[in-house]
Amino acid sequence: MASEKRFKPTVLWFTGLSGSGKSTISERVFEILKQQGYEVEHLDGDVIRDIFPKTGFSREERTDHIKRVGYLASRLQTHGVFVIGSFISPYQDARDFVRNLCDDFTEIYISTPLEECERRDVKGLYAKARKGEITQFTGIDDPYEVPEDPELTIDTTNKSVEEAVQEVLDFLSSTSK
Ligand code: ADX
Repeated sequence: MASEKRFKPTVLWFTGLSGSGKSTISERVFEILKQQGYEVEHLDGDVIRDIFPKTGFSREERTDHIKRVGYLASRLQTHGVFVIGSFISPYQDARDFVRNLCDDFTEIYISTPLEECERRDVKGLYAKARKGEITQFTGIDDPYEVPEDPELTIDTTNKSVEEAVQEVLDFLSSTSK
């Protein structure tokens, strides 16, 4: 319902390792914002890569991919849409590029450590990367540059999805007065 709206629409950008919890938390935030009557769009790395399966994982390809979706996010935001992005987006300069494109950008670093992401290994990709069956895998044989100055950092190791989601909503409340 429109009357529940109290947050300033921003580009909520979730970055972190595969399996850190980005997609799960952002999907839940998306549902809540939608229920509250916001115009909201969720752009997710796995979903967009399914549509453009030739997008590779070299530094250049990841950067082009992030610039493309970041541009889209900024355009949606111009029209008053609340945008949620969930991408590993491992490079600081690519994330900064998107930050500079957007009128309002909120970087949320899902800082769940590699050991925990690998222990979860929801998609079985860490096991494959360790065996060398896939290469350029973030955290294994490809870098992840920890955000220099994120607006919010959440480690999901000992946290439920609902607790993590609440931290995001609390942050939005604190910046929307
Ligand atoms: S990004 O680095 O370009 O931002 P993005 O978030 O779009 O990555 O996609 C990451 C997803 O692609 C992972 O969650 C995983 O499911 C899949 N994936 C497949 N190969 C790799 C790889 N080499 N490195 C990271 N993720 C990979």
